[in-house]
Amino acid sequence: MQNYMQAAVITHYGQATPHLQTVPVPAMRPTDVLVKIRAASINPIDHKTMAGDLKLLLTYRMPLILGSDFAGEVVAVGTQVTRFKVGDAVYGRPRKTRIGTFAEYLAVDAADIALKPGNLTFNEAAAIPLVGLTSYQALHDVLNVKPGQKVLIQAGAGGLGTLAIQVAESLGAYVATTTSPRNFDLVRGLGADRVIDYHTTDFAEVLTNYDAVVDTLGGRQLERAFSVVKRGGQVVSVAGLPNARFAKAYGLPLWKRELLRIVSHRLTRLETRTGVSYRFLFMAPSGQELEDLTALLTTGQLHPVIDRTFSLQDVDRALDYSRRGHARGKIIVMVAQS
Ligand SMILES: NC(=O)c1ccc[n+]([C@@H]2O[C@H](COP(=O)([O-])OP(=O)(O)OC[C@H]3O[C@@H](n4cnc5c(N)ncnc54)[C@H](OP(=O)(O)O)[C@@H]3O)[C@@H](O)[C@H]2O)c1
Repeated sequence: MQNYMQAAVITHYGQATPHLQTVPVPAMRPTDVLVKIRAASINPIDHKTMAGDLKLLLTYRMPLILGSDFAGEVVAVGTQVTRFKVGDAVYGRPRKTRIGTFAEYLAVDAADIALKPGNLTFNEAAAIPLVGLTSYQALHDVLNVKPGQKVLIQAGAGGLGTLAIQVAESLGAYVATTTSPRNFDLVRGLGADRVIDYHTTDFAEVLTNYDAVVDTLGGRQLERAFSVVKRGGQVVSVAGLPNARFAKAYGLPLWKRELLRIVSHRLTRLETRTGVSYRFLFMAPSGQELEDLTALLTTGQLHPVIDRTFSLQDVDRALDYSRRGHARGKIIVMVAQS
């Protein structure tokens, strides 16, 4: 086992790109496994973290290795780990305080990972954890979508949207989504029943009486989403403002709760006016829920959609491509071939 590894590191918030550096292989805790990373995926949280946009919810000590999900092989297990053994192929989303998947090795809590689906390559498996768990938590845990319910999923061609459409479809929902015409065939192939060109059509003008919206855009689009949902329905957002309810459940101090109550007051007013409830979702790592996703991936009900693959040496180009905001599915960072 080597003691040092290559990793994409930032040293301060606001840094434009991470630097590839030689750093020590992370130390393991008794509940950890050490994974040799084969592939990771880019998520917008990577650039939000670099920019310091999430400081209200998450603060990191610098230097910080970026990267929030992975697929790889177990090379060592902690003394308290019984679920995994050396040689297992695994995938996962490490807990938010312990990110760092743009690296050759990751020490990760065994509770946050699952065995890689046997029918997926490492690159394909790396496309799943963060967006797969987010989709599952939004549609299954929060919205509790039932067969026949109508759900709008914003930005259906993105990394999250491509998985969320499939999860909604697996739950039996009728799915509407927004995207550009070049992605119509893609999202229809994933199970979207109604596809809206967001360049020419305002979704809020053409959709009505929906059970739920999964908002991935925030801002004005999130506010408009309330008008397409029927009374008693729900809007869950992964990109909008957290509110005071979220802040309390997330355990934020009183001053942050108060701050979020004030900044999200327009959403609270919309809840009252429309009778539609609002929930901000900050996805949580879970090895157990990854196992639920594994079952869907193994039976072919879910499959990863990969736009492009970059090497770890080109992680800055991968992040740039993601920042442009027009990915069709996921962007993969290939760390090691074998
Ligand atoms: N809170 C959480 O736990 C959580 C978890 C996961 C993701 N997120 C957030 O969810 C958001 C989406 O993530 P992602 O991974 O899907 O990002 P992404 O892959 O970068 O999304 C790119 C997609 O967005 C589409 N898009 C851009 N503007 C649009 C609009 N106005 N209407 C419809 N589609 C539009 C683009 O389609 P075109 O090419 O057609 O423009 C493209 O397909 C990000 O803000 C991310 O941070 C939050």
